[in-house]
Amino acid sequence: MFDVEKIREDFPILGRKVYGRPLVYLDSGATAQKPRCVTDMVRYLHDEMNANVHRGVHYLSEETTVMYEAARERIRDFIGAGSSDEIIFTGGATASINAVAYAWGGTFIGAGDNVVISEMEHHSNLVPWQQIAMYRGAGIRVLPFDDEGRLMTERLGELLDERTKVVAVTQASNTLGTRPDLKTVIDAAHAVGAVVMVDGCQGVVHGTVNVRELDCDFYAFSGHKLYAPTGIGVLYGKRALLEAMPPFLFGGDMVDRVSFERTTFAPLPLKFEAGTANFIGAIALGEAVKYVTSFSADDIAAHEERLLRYATERLEAIDGLRIYGNTPGKSPIISFNIEGAHHYDVGMILDKMGIAIRTGQHCAEPVMTHYGVTGMCRASLAMYNTEAEIDALAAGVERAARMLR
Ligand code: ALA
Repeated sequence: MFDVEKIREDFPILGRKVYGRPLVYLDSGATAQKPRCVTDMVRYLHDEMNANVHRGVHYLSEETTVMYEAARERIRDFIGAGSSDEIIFTGGATASINAVAYAWGGTFIGAGDNVVISEMEHHSNLVPWQQIAMYRGAGIRVLPFDDEGRLMTERLGELLDERTKVVAVTQASNTLGTRPDLKTVIDAAHAVGAVVMVDGCQGVVHGTVNVRELDCDFYAFSGHKLYAPTGIGVLYGKRALLEAMPPFLFGGDMVDRVSFERTTFAPLPLKFEAGTANFIGAIALGEAVKYVTSFSADDIAAHEERLLRYATERLEAIDGLRIYGNTPGKSPIISFNIEGAHHYDVGMILDKMGIAIRTGQHCAEPVMTHYGVTGMCRASLAMYNTEAEIDALAAGVERAARMLR
């Protein structure tokens, strides 16, 4: 049974006060809070298990290596990959996407080619492609969204051609909440021989994903938005693509034989894991996945959708408030502005009431440009939020609107 009050007990930080008021945390899209099992695991690993992975015959190293590889296997299962060789641990989604841009893009994108990027991408699935395209002499084409926040996949036909090498698209927009029709994007990209890089940061948290069914070529997400620590993330890639691309970072653990004349590289996945791995982060991410999957994904989604509907109704009733992104089935993110009020001022007033939202450009400046605004307020929900917190948000926003107009 999904019992939100019981779930909240697993997250110690939710019991704290801010300015003497109960914390209302509505910024999980920026980073999610951590359940006690994850923080306990981090402490346990430091206190009892700490040893470098893949590098020792001693007990601690072997035990830590087993846990590290078990975390990889858990994540493989979680996202439906065919092999744990296709699961690369990275520093986060940004590191994952940069690795693909530089290693795959740096090899297979050439002068005169083009990369198609959706207009709603987070900077992390935009800037690396833009930079590699500039470096390789390729062009950038933008797949637009409409004012409701719907990705205009009907425009794919005009944008894709035989020189399209990559399509970069999000599973769920961090600003609009839109969940694009990925299947259509992926099928269209594959029809012209392009690969698809899916940013799964906001998507993986709010529903199930199966990368094999989706048939995406690369998929990236960060641990810290999935109730795990910062500094750990995942890159999934289809085996053939990962094998075809050269390593991105060079050093220890990613090699097979090394001499001053030449180096051969380790097989997947280690080929892309140079240096000491963030094994504590990876094992903690495995623990976070274990925690999330101890609930029914449908129950979590139903709870979050209920809250999203309620929050939308409450906020829409506020005079002069505009919500950006209203597509059906969107993820539990509400970006908004109040006419005549600056988003920072709204955020600061809410903060003084103990309510944490994000303000600004949300690392998605082209989305701001689309709507002609300098920034937005954003409330992003997680499995531990409650209706009472939405009431607090609505009351806080109403008060901010009165004060600022
Ligand atoms: N990418 C994170 C967000 O959307 C930080 O807030």
